Amino acid sequence: MHMIEAIDLKKHYSSGLLHKHLTTAVDGVSFFIERGETLGLIGESGCGKTTVGRMLLRLIEPTSGKIFFEGIDIMSLNRTELRRIRPRMQMIFQDPESSLNPRMKIGDCIAEPLRLGLNGKLGKKQTRERVMELIEIVGLNPEHFNRYPHQMSGGQNQRAVLARILAIKPDFIVADEPTASLDVSVQAQILNLIQKLKKEQELTLLFISHDHEVVQHMSDRVAIMDKGRIIETLKWRDFAAKVLASETSLPKIKNDILSGPGSKAKETIKGIWRRPGTKPVQ
Ligand SMILES: Nc1ncnc2c1ncn2[C@@H]1O[C@H](COP(=O)(O)OP(=O)(O)OP(=O)(O)O)[C@@H](O)[C@H]1O
Ligand SMILES: [Mg+2]
Repeated sequence: MHMIEAIDLKKHYSSGLLHKHLTTAVDGVSFFIERGETLGLIGESGCGKTTVGRMLLRLIEPTSGKIFFEGIDIMSLNRTELRRIRPRMQMIFQDPESSLNPRMKIGDCIAEPLRLGLNGKLGKKQTRERVMELIEIVGLNPEHFNRYPHQMSGGQNQRAVLARILAIKPDFIVADEPTASLDVSVQAQILNLIQKLKKEQELTLLFISHDHEVVQHMSDRVAIMDKGRIIETLKWRDFAAKVLASETSLPKIKNDILSGPGSKAKETIKGIWRRPGTKPVQ
């Protein structure tokens, strides 16, 4: 059984008061994600990536289509059932501050799911110990416990978001451009942290990005989206090869590749972003 399966998902938005205008954000998308797998979702701005990610968790109601989470028909769930299943499916947003309560200290933000007893009740002392453990796991310092989000850097806040998510212990995460708002130097750290956590916690991920280097680094398979549709799904290696061969129909990738022999894409694919234990793509 797939961890996630989406069948013919569609989303139309209607706008305009006098003349109704229908925007097709997602135009019949089907895919699956196996347990422990990361599916990358790449495509140009506005092609519908975020809409797909949010529909999977029913943060946006699909116009039509089906979503299965471990065989459970997500579309058929009522509010109570949805609330019960929500902790198992989480989302990491581009802007970490939007997932943290500005009036809550970082330690309390991380402790909240533990206090709510999402994974069984913990005592006060145990909760604090677990929060400290999570703070360490994501590479924060104990001193961050008493800080507010506005007293942290973007990278630190994204680490705090990850710690909170680990406290929730989800099975499936939609990561929507989780490093796009961060400094380049911090991006790699956060991506590597997500990779590490994914392996250790056996997470399943939908990883959304418009950056093909990042997608290659993170994904087992890559789905290429264009104008509301998935036009191709490839194993990451084939995606990498395709990017290099510039065969893909994704214009941004083509442009990157064609922008000269020393192009950033070529360098990074062959070097920095190469996964440990794999050969560089020729
Ligand atoms: N609430 C809304 N009302 C009307 N149209 C919307 C709404 N949300 C998104 N859209 C439209 O749906 C399309 C897909 O948007 P979406 O946010 O899913 O794109 P995206 O691929 O995530 O883009 P980006 O890479 O810029 O984040 C866009 O054309 C967008 O303008
Ligand atoms: Mg988006």
